[in-house]
Amino acid sequence: MPLICFASPKGGVGKTTLAANVADALRRNGRRVLVMDFDPQNTLRLHFGVPLTDGAGFMADLPKRPDWRNVVRQTASGVMLLPHGSIDIRGTLGLSHAIERDPELLAAPMRAILADPGLLVIADTPPGASHALNLLAPMSQLVVAVLLADATSAALVPDIDNGRFLGAGTMAALFAGRLRVVLNGVDPNARLSRAAAETVARHLGPRLLGAVCREEVVAEALAAQRLVLDIAPNSRAAEDLREIARGVEAALPPVPEPFQASWGAR
Ligand SMILES: Nc1ncnc2c1ncn2[C@@H]1O[C@H](COP(=O)(O)OP(=O)(O)O)[C@@H](O)[C@H]1O
Ligand SMILES: [Mg+2]
Repeated sequence: MPLICFASPKGGVGKTTLAANVADALRRNGRRVLVMDFDPQNTLRLHFGVPLTDGAGFMADLPKRPDWRNVVRQTASGVMLLPHGSIDIRGTLGLSHAIERDPELLAAPMRAILADPGLLVIADTPPGASHALNLLAPMSQLVVAVLLADATSAALVPDIDNGRFLGAGTMAALFAGRLRVVLNGVDPNARLSRAAAETVARHLGPRLLGAVCREEVVAEALAAQRLVLDIAPNSRAAEDLREIARGVEAALPPVPEPFQASWGAR
């Protein structure tokens, strides 16, 4: 049931990389995990070994109201995947208008997916504002904003701080409590990266879920269409990803009683 959205004001910050690899870490912790790609770039699938030439997906076909069970992929990692599907610019604009005109087009299948109480759903969203994020944020238990450890990110902290990143007024106040931040691409040996990370950590306190170091294995894993915990389980980045997964688990509401392992024993 829980839905976790990975979002960010900016693109190219590692949103998709973290959504894929944190999903894998949560799966390794014993969770049943479904990752969904809401970004028309359709790159989430590459982390799970789906060939570049395979353009099938859920969102790209949404106007035809597909049954998600017919589109879902069982990946080698054990994580279930709903790729976005390949789509051109006209298709992307058309899809966005269709969701704006008729939010139920997306809301109805999301309710059906989230009705499974034992399933943890992770959504990778496009950068910045989108109709998809607008619709998903109120359904989410957690919105994870990904920032890079640089000066631009430090400047975006006030927007994250007051929830303005996801709305205005009461809506912003509602979301502020569900927002967590992950800093990606931290280079402990670079003065600016360290300073930006320290500034963000000071401002956000416990809302900072953690940080992931900049390390070549992260980009290499994507090039090999594999996951970081698979190809380099002892790397620093792998340890960081496991730590983020622990933070996500801790920030989620408790598993409903009937689904706790000890329940039947009472
Ligand atoms: N911690 C990291 N260390 C090294 N490279 C990274 C790291 N995080 C992301 N990358 C690389 O940065 C690029 C952009 O990442 P991506 O996840 O696609 O960003 P976004 O989804 O925010 O657009 C990819 O090539 C990815 O491999
Ligand atoms: Mg992305």
